[in-house]
Amino acid sequence: MTAGSPSPGANIFEGMVDFFDEAREAPPHRELSDLAWKSVATAPEGPLLDVGCGAGVFLDKARAAGRRAVGTDLAVGMVRRAQRHGHAAAASDVTALPFPDATFSAVTAMLVLHLVPDARAALAELARVLLPGGRLVVVTQGVTWDEPVARALSANRGYSGISHEFVVGSARSGVAHRRWTSEGLATSFEEAGFTAVRITAGLDGHMLVGAANRR
Ligand SMILES: C[S@@+](CC[C@H](N)C(=O)[O-])C[C@H]1O[C@@H](n2cnc3c(N)ncnc32)[C@H](O)[C@@H]1O
Repeated sequence: MTAGSPSPGANIFEGMVDFFDEAREAPPHRELSDLAWKSVATAPEGPLLDVGCGAGVFLDKARAAGRRAVGTDLAVGMVRRAQRHGHAAAASDVTALPFPDATFSAVTAMLVLHLVPDARAALAELARVLLPGGRLVVVTQGVTWDEPVARALSANRGYSGISHEFVVGSARSGVAHRRWTSEGLATSFEEAGFTAVRITAGLDGHMLVGAANRR
């Protein structure tokens, strides 16, 4: 697949391709991706879709696991970087995915859902492209995540450089459209047609990892 046209409103992440490429190896990012991947690893066999794929952190993990995978991202620069890393990727908004119904056995969204203005539409679209019984795994910001909390966490853990900027940058006001309680995330999953919902947390409880199965 090739990168398509930029969406209107092409986002701030167009200018953060190098940052997110490098951040894949930063400890706080790796903590979250490793935690989330535990739920992906037990998903039914079959193709995986990673929405908001960035430079391809989950696509790397899928390749290492021998799993066929494709990424999508609103930012064309991210799509191009994922492609440069040898991944199949296409430009697309998470609310309008260029795939038929019931295509994937796993769908992942790492640090994306809180950025989407219409999270309900996004979850409905993720449900649409999943096979019945397919697994959704989402990493998103918890309601306790804000800049003072992020700064304290960074200081407590002795983060500097990209790790510090990763946690503090993500917490700045205006970055997230909404942040989630565990209960709110679980309810949103259920309303979108998911079952067997499990919510765990990383980064000292401030980032939520939601996993669920398509009904
Ligand atoms: C915080 S970055 C995370 C990237 C990657 N998942 C990672 O963990 O390294 C969020 C990504 O979501 C993408 N994004 C934001 N809004 C989106 C939308 N509505 N549809 C698809 N992708 C979106 C951004 O372009 C960006 O690449």
